[in-house]
Amino acid sequence: MVVPRSSNLRATLFNTEKWADLPWEQWVAQELPAMKGHPGMLIASIGHTPAEGEIIAGPVAATGVVDAIECVAYTKDTIVALVRAVRERTDLPILAKLTFNWGDDLYPAAEAALKAGATGFTAIDSIGPTLQIDIETGQPTIGGVGNKAWMSGAAIRPVAQAVVAELAHRFDAPIVGTGGIIQAEDAVEMTMVGATALGVCTAPLLRGLEWFERTHKSLSGWLDGHGYAALADLRGAALKHLHPVEDTAPLTFEFEPLKCTKCDLCVVLCPYDAREMEGDKPKTSDLKQILLEDRCRYCGLCVEVCKPEALTYGNWPR
Ligand SMILES: Cc1cc2nc3c(=O)[nH]c(=O)nc-3n(C[C@H](O)[C@H](O)[C@H](O)COP(=O)(O)O)c2cc1C
Repeated sequence: MVVPRSSNLRATLFNTEKWADLPWEQWVAQELPAMKGHPGMLIASIGHTPAEGEIIAGPVAATGVVDAIECVAYTKDTIVALVRAVRERTDLPILAKLTFNWGDDLYPAAEAALKAGATGFTAIDSIGPTLQIDIETGQPTIGGVGNKAWMSGAAIRPVAQAVVAELAHRFDAPIVGTGGIIQAEDAVEMTMVGATALGVCTAPLLRGLEWFERTHKSLSGWLDGHGYAALADLRGAALKHLHPVEDTAPLTFEFEPLKCTKCDLCVVLCPYDAREMEGDKPKTSDLKQILLEDRCRYCGLCVEVCKPEALTYGNWPR
């Protein structure tokens, strides 16, 4: 059965790529040495089993052109053994690549990887497996048994950011925030939740290598416009706002009648029947919003569905 190897949905990608296309000996003998004199930091990504790490790590480090090694494994247990195998063979910084596919087991694996000699993390890998079906034919358009498809790009950034924030909260270690960075603002957001450096794959795949220069320029403009000298100045800026739910004060609401189009969505869609409106004429001061406080669960759906932004939060940025 033939299914597409990748499918692009608004900067989200599904891929069925399988590891390296080159023999590792060629990579070490030709590709890595060709990077000699490169202006940036070169991170060599290796995996995916401890046995492979034992074979590849030494020769990769011996090329002398690599600044750090990233370890990638399929399971939470092998990542630890892989990191240990690599640490026994090099003093280079090691990044343990983490995947949300391990669920909350990701965090104990991260801790064990640090103890096994990792210096920091890359978070996260693509998410999956995923599946999408053409309902006319029943054929998979994305994924399938024996042809697993993994999701990357825009759709996974909120997941990646939650993982990065949790890692930043738990561990004092560098994190390469990776997953769904498509534009400069995404880079800012990923840094604000605790990323030390940023990783990208989908954006340059979809937009071409010019993406780097364009996004760098746009990011510099954003930083200048907001009075920041460097992206690093924003690292972790959002973490102090990430309260546990029980510590969060209830939402308050503000209503601007002159903006209200009287669509009544706030009333109709409220699952708790906690909203009522008085008055009929749109965009007039006759309109009054009534909140039945004993019914309201402060979910904020009424604000989220208000397109003209007549209803806003009093104590929470939209
Ligand atoms: C086509 C493709 C191939 C990938 N291959 C690998 C791989 O071989 N090893 C790996 O660790 N991650 C691999 N990834 C995952 C990326 O490194 C990255 O963690 C993930 O795509 C999330 O970042 P992004 O949203 O910027 O793409 C691959 C991703 C894509 C889209």
